[in-house]
Amino acid sequence: MKIVLIGPPGAGKGVYAQYFRDKYCIPHISTGDIFREEISKNTELGKRIKSYVEQGLLVPDEITIEVVKRRLEQPDTLNGFILDGFPRTLNQAKALDEITSIDAAIHLVVSEEVAVKRLSGRVICPVCGRVYNLYYEPKPKFDEQCDYDGAKLMRRKDDEPEVVKQRYRVFYDTFAPILEYYKNTSRLIEVNADKSIKEITPLLERILIENKILKLKPCREVKLE
Ligand code: AP5
Repeated sequence: MKIVLIGPPGAGKGVYAQYFRDKYCIPHISTGDIFREEISKNTELGKRIKSYVEQGLLVPDEITIEVVKRRLEQPDTLNGFILDGFPRTLNQAKALDEITSIDAAIHLVVSEEVAVKRLSGRVICPVCGRVYNLYYEPKPKFDEQCDYDGAKLMRRKDDEPEVVKQRYRVFYDTFAPILEYYKNTSRLIEVNADKSIKEITPLLERILIENKILKLKPCREVKLE
């Protein structure tokens, strides 16, 4: 299964990608996560991209495409992968088709109002990467602490309201040609993602199975919290 998840900030791309990663043992490749890690380690790449990410602007195509190309060369992608946050420009979508063949692009359709509220409550464990929400399930059991390792949950710098607004502007400026591209190649699947995670996850899974995109057997059981 080789799919890309498309949707505005807060659509739930990371949440569903983690579910399929855990249940089917295929990698979740998030360009945002790769960039944030490079920034936190202060690598050469991190220094080049820091200002783009922190202002909610797109990292230039030539950098992003090279990062994804290198990641997709890793052997763990042989059985498939879930790309989260890539492609974000038509150029990236076309470059991806030159690197590999994508089965489907899943557009998570969500209203801006709902997505912004989700982002204002998003907290992340810096140790295990689990994502919680202060307003929606899964909420952390104790204050802002990870249920699994007790670490203090963190907010993303680019979840500040002004940066969120900028990320939205960028998303709406760039997503229409990408949707058109996947629609014209009969690979676009639209899913209403305004409902709860517990409702959307099995729906998404069923759609992928019915369309013969998801053919893998689960490698472990994953409980939706
Ligand atoms: P990136 O990390 O990709 O951020 P984003 O697309 O803005 O996406 P988010 O992570 O905010 O949203 P999500 O849909 O994953 O939401 P999540 O599942 O966590 O990119 C960051 C930056 O990196 C960009 O601004 C850019 O600078 C750069 N970049 C990245 N890729 C690039 C590219 N290809 N080209 C150029 N630059 C690039 O969910 C959010 C919250 O909502 C969570 O708390 C979750 O629990 C909750 N939630 C989710 N779904 C539901 C639901 N159904 N019900 C209730 N709560 C829900």
